[in-house]
Amino acid sequence: MAALALRRYTQAGLPASAQTLPAAIAFTLLPHLQPVIAAVRRRLINSVSQSKPTILVTGGAGYIGSHAVLALQQAGYPVVVLDNLIYGHRALVTDVLKVELIEGDTSDRPLLDQLFASRAFGAVMHFAAYTYVGESMSAPDKYYRNNVVGTLTLLEAMQAAGVNQLVFSSTCATYGTPQVLPLTEDHPQKPINPYGLTKLMVEQMLADFDRAYGLRSVSFRYFNAAGADPEGRSGEDHDPETHLIPLALHTALGRREAIYIFGTDYPTPDGTCIRDYIHVSDLADAHVLGLEYLLAGGQTDQFNLGNGSGFSVRQVLKTAQRISGKAFAIVERDRRPGDPPILVGSSAKASRILNWQPRYGDLDTIVSHAWQWHQQRHG
Ligand SMILES: NC(=O)c1ccc[n+]([C@@H]2O[C@H](COP(=O)([O-])OP(=O)(O)OC[C@H]3O[C@@H](n4cnc5c(N)ncnc54)[C@H](O)[C@@H]3O)[C@@H](O)[C@H]2O)c1
Repeated sequence: MAALALRRYTQAGLPASAQTLPAAIAFTLLPHLQPVIAAVRRRLINSVSQSKPTILVTGGAGYIGSHAVLALQQAGYPVVVLDNLIYGHRALVTDVLKVELIEGDTSDRPLLDQLFASRAFGAVMHFAAYTYVGESMSAPDKYYRNNVVGTLTLLEAMQAAGVNQLVFSSTCATYGTPQVLPLTEDHPQKPINPYGLTKLMVEQMLADFDRAYGLRSVSFRYFNAAGADPEGRSGEDHDPETHLIPLALHTALGRREAIYIFGTDYPTPDGTCIRDYIHVSDLADAHVLGLEYLLAGGQTDQFNLGNGSGFSVRQVLKTAQRISGKAFAIVERDRRPGDPPILVGSSAKASRILNWQPRYGDLDTIVSHAWQWHQQRHG
């Protein structure tokens, strides 16, 4: 070992005067000690300031990430947002959330190294990803690069900096076609599109990073995020928009002529597909609980985050018509390939282990909060 260290040290071409054995051993061990030194440094800073650790939120200028920032602020955590603003909203971060925005990409390793060296982050919440299932079928390379390679780069930078805790946005799309309902975390994961596969690959990387480097993580498999901040500070603002509730509300506001129901002959009570809608502020609360579970030493785990009760497409549209007071046009179309009749998850594990309870489970509340936000944004 000492001989090897001395050889490497000598090969490194350092001044002959410095070529002593202790220096050679230190030189060999230094790369391995860096994460430990960084972690000790962070702990010292946090204990001296006695404040909660700063959390890096990737994708914090987007829909769910911005609500997580609000929940973190409410819980007293300082936050820094990293977002490349491809889909995110600058003014949301700077004017509404009022937190520092680092405009950059998760695959920019020099930027990440600089960021981790300049700040003592307690953990990362990782929302940054591309999210369009259809596009992932037509441009899979884009999804593997951003969602998988981007996340791998982030994990490598975290590992090098000794930041060892991550909360990850996974998805129920990792399950693929349900074999048993409601979906529980031990349901087989067989994604039927590249988007779901990229998220499953990250879950697998996270398991390996824990085994190899002790980087612990919580992966949340969301069902359909919906609704908006009850105080109207943020809401769903995707472009293009593909989700049912915002599309219905765009139609109510006259931004679209009609909304489509794809398939009315499914084996469900009203013939339309049933999905699990989870209020975005409930998702955000779960992220704070997941973070605190990790900060308390919790082990790497995966949790579903859903409402537990599904709502049919027709039910959602009727609710949107009633709450908006607009009888907007609904057009019935044929089924789309790949849509399972029912997708509903059990979040019993998150309730049991994280003590998470959704506050806004009923559909009226979800749609009302979304409507309030859409009127303010587009009305
Ligand atoms: N919306 C849902 O119903 C839903 C369901 C399941 C899982 N998810 C996951 O939750 C996360 C957030 O979803 P969302 O609906 O808020 O999406 P979003 O598009 O509103 O937010 C994603 C944000 O990440 C940013 N971003 C993307 N790639 C980046 C990169 N490489 N570097 C830096 N920033 C980058 C975008 O600019 C955007 O602001 C995603 O990972 C998504 O896969 C969402």
